[in-house]
Amino acid sequence: MRYLSIGGERVSVIGLGAWQFGAREWNWNEASRAEALRIVERALELGVNLIDTAEIYGWGRSEEILGEALSGRREKAWLASKVFPILPLPGRLRAAARASLGRLKTDRLDLYQLHFDNPVVPLSIQMRGLGKLQTDGLIRHVGVSNYSLKRWKKAEEALGGPVAANQVEYHLLKRNAEVMLEWARANGRLVIAYSPLAQGLLSGRYSAENVPADVRRFNPFFSRKKISRAARVLDALRDIGARHGATRAQVALAWVIRGGNVAAIPGAKTVRQLEENAAAADLTLSADETARLDDASARFVLPD
Ligand SMILES: NC(=O)c1ccc[n+]([C@@H]2O[C@H](COP(=O)([O-])OP(=O)(O)OC[C@H]3O[C@@H](n4cnc5c(N)ncnc54)[C@H](OP(=O)(O)O)[C@@H]3O)[C@@H](O)[C@H]2O)c1
Repeated sequence: MRYLSIGGERVSVIGLGAWQFGAREWNWNEASRAEALRIVERALELGVNLIDTAEIYGWGRSEEILGEALSGRREKAWLASKVFPILPLPGRLRAAARASLGRLKTDRLDLYQLHFDNPVVPLSIQMRGLGKLQTDGLIRHVGVSNYSLKRWKKAEEALGGPVAANQVEYHLLKRNAEVMLEWARANGRLVIAYSPLAQGLLSGRYSAENVPADVRRFNPFFSRKKISRAARVLDALRDIGARHGATRAQVALAWVIRGGNVAAIPGAKTVRQLEENAAAADLTLSADETARLDDASARFVLPD
């Protein structure tokens, strides 16, 4: 595993996203629970320490499952959760953080993120609440999610200190996040790439005729038109993977974490997927391979 240093702490470049745990929209059923526990155990064994959840995932079930999975091994994880900021006033933030800590069976979060940008409540108020949680030791680092670079910087001004991470969608088919990579690198901040496999599309398993019957039915990347436009990217992933004895998913992850302060948090349904994803940390793409992926992805992202 490779690690980044954030505020002096080691964070794995490949993490584990835990939205799948306990979430109906991912067809969760109780039979998946044992596998979820094994996924977390194996992740920690492989040095994956960045584990991401949110109070909203499975309405708290994801945090509860992680709390169970991390029992006795909490110190091995760099644990991140998120608050759904409908009314992110300091009192609500504190209550939400306490509830998350309770479900996760821990006394501190390594990263606590505002799940999206609430432009109605002033950042000064939101950050006052998070700053107090930090001072009181409930959370180590403040983070945001789905923020623009401009708002990330404003959040820092309001906090009067580093907002350690911004969690944003970033993968070969969506590259808006790249505008913040240089700033993050220069300032020791972390970009956490969510949906780094475009929710599994980049694994090459799916087609217009075979869209999974879950939350992905509502994902525009799984529309007939976009799946067919992604063919060039999928071909490049296959060809490059063949050279390395790697899967498409592994090459897609290696591309996301190829430079700078980016960690990817793929979700996993099985231990095998988790192991495959973790191994992508050690896959280095050549300049030519990166250029081919850049080109294929640019042609997808920019309309013809
Ligand atoms: N902050 C936010 O607003 C936000 C939004 C979305 C997600 N997230 C976070 O980011 C995490 C990851 O995003 P995501 O779950 O949306 O998408 P993702 O990581 O791109 O895709 C996950 C799905 O891809 C498939 N997969 C995973 N590893 C694979 C492998 N090695 N080979 C083949 N298929 C594989 C699995 O589904 P199948 O096996 O069923 O195909 C898995 O459920 C979430 O768990 C969550 O923590 C945050």
